[in-house]
Amino acid sequence: MAPRRKKIYEGKAKILYEGPEPGTLIQYFKDDATAGNGQRKEVFEGKGALNSRLSEFFMTGLNAIGVPTHFIRTLNMREQLVRQVEIIPLEVIVRNYAAGSMARRLGLDEGTQLPRPIVEFCYKADKLGDPLVPEEYIVAFGWASQQDLDDIVSLALRVNDFLSGVMHGVGIRLIDFKIEVGRIWDNDFPSLVVADEISPDSARLWDIATGRKLDKDVFRQNLGSLTDAYAEVARRLGVLPQGTTHHRIKPTLIN
Ligand code: TYD
Repeated sequence: MAPRRKKIYEGKAKILYEGPEPGTLIQYFKDDATAGNGQRKEVFEGKGALNSRLSEFFMTGLNAIGVPTHFIRTLNMREQLVRQVEIIPLEVIVRNYAAGSMARRLGLDEGTQLPRPIVEFCYKADKLGDPLVPEEYIVAFGWASQQDLDDIVSLALRVNDFLSGVMHGVGIRLIDFKIEVGRIWDNDFPSLVVADEISPDSARLWDIATGRKLDKDVFRQNLGSLTDAYAEVARRLGVLPQGTTHHRIKPTLIN
């Protein structure tokens, strides 16, 4: 049987298919979760739908306040129509509190508030484990220009303000997150937009009241059910997808 449409790229958590019109792609969210740069892999039923819904929520919110993103519209529970972009080969990380690699590198306790939001860049190269790189490398090797970097930092800080505020409103602290940035062309004019996804797979989200982790660290550190954590974020934001409610209550035995 001929495939329904052409697969452009398959990553660890998403698949990109050719879109219905030139300049568009379909982004499919898988249920797979990986940790340690793909060394550990597990499938969590419902994760793809939760991440698709959450990413839609954040991207449409950003679009609404004038922060451009690649998101066009949701097609179904785990697929989105997005603009095709030229991905800048950087993982753009914004940190508000120390955690993960930064806490290890600087010997800081996880959760230490940083003096101000810090933006850092990792070079997207799976084989190398996405190494942290200084801006000088990025410009010297031509991965992005200095002007691009200045624009990327502004974009990342606007995303940070938006996400921090939205999450604070539902009692969640935005510790850090990662975005990817893409270039689009409109009539020969280039501009940079937020691409990829914004979800608990690529952010650290801690419940303010209890410190409970509501992000991929639940999987990395075996802290319980990953989908329960993501569903909690979606529930608080009022965007829990239909049909993904968890059956926490045991079935009742009918005699
Ligand atoms: P970081 O602490 O550098 O890495 P790790 O998760 O390996 O300890 O990550 C900072 C934030 O950016 C965290 O929320 C995870 C996210 N991130 C990704 O989603 N993908 C990546 O490739 C990288 C480097 C970070």
